[in-house]
Amino acid sequence: MPAKQRVLTGITTTGTPHLGNYLGALKPAIAASHEDQNDSFYFMADYHALIKCQDPQALHQSCRDIAAIWLALGLDTDKATFYRQSDIVEIPQLAWLLTCMTPKGMMNRAHAYKASVDENSRQGNADIDDGVNMGLYSYPILMAADILMFNAHQIPVGKDQIQHIEMCRDIAARFNHAFGEHFVLPEAMVHEGKAKVLSGLDGRKMSKSYGNIIPLFAPTDELRRLIGQITTNSLAPGEAKDPDTCTLFEIYSAFSSREQSDAMRLRYAAGIGWGEMKQELFTFLDDHLSEARNNYNRIIADPGYIEAELQKGAHKAREYTVPFMDRLRAAVGIMSVGAKVQVQAPKAKAKKDLSPAEQAKADAGKARAMAIAKQREAEEQAAVAQRIEAVNAQWQAKGASAEALAELCMQLEGEISQAKKKTRKQLQQVLLAVREFA
Ligand code: TRP
Repeated sequence: MPAKQRVLTGITTTGTPHLGNYLGALKPAIAASHEDQNDSFYFMADYHALIKCQDPQALHQSCRDIAAIWLALGLDTDKATFYRQSDIVEIPQLAWLLTCMTPKGMMNRAHAYKASVDENSRQGNADIDDGVNMGLYSYPILMAADILMFNAHQIPVGKDQIQHIEMCRDIAARFNHAFGEHFVLPEAMVHEGKAKVLSGLDGRKMSKSYGNIIPLFAPTDELRRLIGQITTNSLAPGEAKDPDTCTLFEIYSAFSSREQSDAMRLRYAAGIGWGEMKQELFTFLDDHLSEARNNYNRIIADPGYIEAELQKGAHKAREYTVPFMDRLRAAVGIMSVGAKVQVQAPKAKAKKDLSPAEQAKADAGKARAMAIAKQREAEEQAAVAQRIEAVNAQWQAKGASAEALAELCMQLEGEISQAKKKTRKQLQQVLLAVREFA
C-alpha cells in the first residue's frame, strides 16, 4: 500500500468563515479527511491572525468560532489531527530556523507585502513600508513552518496562496541542501470546479476584506437580511434574466444539485422576479444549512468540549513535532554539549546514475524552476514599471518642493542599493531624471 498522503491546511482566525470559505476550503477539506489514503492535519492559524488583528477579544472569539465550525461540519477528530497552531510550540521554533534560511529578497516578492508597498506608492506615501509589520513581511515563513513541521504533501488552498506554497518549497529545498534531506516539498492543491470563487453581496468576490460576506452560520434573520442585500439588476418580474451573471443564482447553484439548478435556469428564462428569487435562495440555504447550524449552536455553547478536542489534537500533533524538532535542531547544530554533530550533506547522484524516471523527474523539476524564475522576472519588471510610473507621477504632480525631491532621491538610492542588476539600471535612470529636475 502506498504511504498515506498528508493533507494539511489552516484557517487564519480573524472574523468568521463565510459561504465562500465553506465551499472553497472547509467542505473539500472535510471530504478529504474521510478518504482512507489521506492523513489530514487541520488547524486554526492563530499566530497568523496576530498579523492583522490586534483585538484580543476578536482573535479569541474567532478561534473558538472556527473550531466550532470544523466540529459542527462533522470533522472526525479521531481520523484527522485537529489543532490550534499556538499549541504546537515547535512551529514558531521551526519558523526561526526557516527565517535564517530565507533570502530577504524572496519576502520582498510576497504578494501580501507587495500589495501594501504598491498601495503606499500609489498614494504617494514617502514610506513605502508604511503600515507593514514584520509579521506581515515574513508571513510566508510562518506558513512554511506550519507545513514543513508535519512534512505535509498536499496543501489545499485558494489561488491566492499558491505563491506561498512555492516559497515554502523553495525554503525547504534550501534547508535540505544545507542540512540534509529533512523536508518533503509540498504541493498546492487548488480546487477547481464550480465552487472556485463565490461572489459576495455586491457581486465582487466574497471576501472578509470587502465586507460583502454571508457568514456560514448566520442566524435565520440575518441570513434573510443579507440575501435581501445581494445586488441584482433592474429587470422587472416577467422579463427573462441571465442566470450566469447573477449572484443569487451563483450561490444557489453552488449548493444545489445539478437538477435543481437546471430547473432554476428555466425559471430565470421565464422571468422570475428578484424578490421571489431572493425568497427561494433564502429558504433553500436556510434549510440546507440547518442541521450543521444546529450542531454549531450546540457546540459553540460548550467551550469545554471545544477545548478538550483541541487538547486532544495538540497531544496527537506533538507526538510528531517534538521529536522532529529535536532532530531539526540537532541538524543545525543546536543540541546538548556532549552530543555529536551529524553532518549529512545531501548526496546528489551523478547524472549518469539516474534512472530514466529519475532523470525525467529532475528535468521536470528544472523546467519548473525555470518557469518560476521567468515568472518572477516578469513580476519584477512589472513592479519596476509601476514604481517608475509612481515616481514620475509624484515629482511631476506635486510641482515638487526641493525638499520633497531630495527625499525622493534618497528613497530611490535606497531602492537601487537593494535592486537586482536589471532593475537597478532602470531605477538609476529615473533617479538621474529626478536629480536633473531638482
Ligand atoms: N495563509 C492561509 C490563509 O490565509 C492560512 C494558513 C496559515 C495556511 N498557515 C497555513 C494554509 C498552512 C495552508 C497551510 O488562507
